[in-house]
Amino acid sequence: MAAPLEIYTTSNPQQQETLRSKAKKVQKVTPRLVRLAEQMLETMREANGVGLAAPQVGVLQRLFVAELPADEEQNLPRETYILFNPQIVKAQGEQIGTEGCLSIPGYVGEVARFQQVTVKGLDERGQPVRHKVEGYLARVFQHEIDHLDGVLYTDRLTDPSTFRPVEVGQEEGEELASAMV
Ligand code: NI
Repeated sequence: MAAPLEIYTTSNPQQQETLRSKAKKVQKVTPRLVRLAEQMLETMREANGVGLAAPQVGVLQRLFVAELPADEEQNLPRETYILFNPQIVKAQGEQIGTEGCLSIPGYVGEVARFQQVTVKGLDERGQPVRHKVEGYLARVFQHEIDHLDGVLYTDRLTDPSTFRPVEVGQEEGEELASAMV
């Protein structure tokens, strides 16, 4: 297994500039980009994340990965997503919940998102795909697509006072816990 990629954080000025840049449309899903997506998945799992966008590893291309862990109680396998050029084509409803970000370690905040989104894009074979997702997964997709436009969840806080420190490594746990409620 390849070494995990470095996750860019906003506390590093140069990395912050990348995180704040708009990513370019992927012209072709090449084996190299698919390999990058796989490395991103490994990196994300290592960091206990549920989503990771290419700018977070310093690549300004429109690509994100996401993964929901298996639900043993419900006997559901893990769900893995690799999406190139993702675009929200339909959105409805609203949900408010706590978010964290691997690029902003040690903090969480409250963000309003659509409850349900339909996202189209290309899969790892370069084939058009469409995912209709809701709830927690819809939140993850919206958060990752924001990354591709240089937008961070801290830009979308329902109120600045909801932005608060948590123990590093607990950002996602907080997110998951709140999204499960
Ligand atoms: Ni993030």
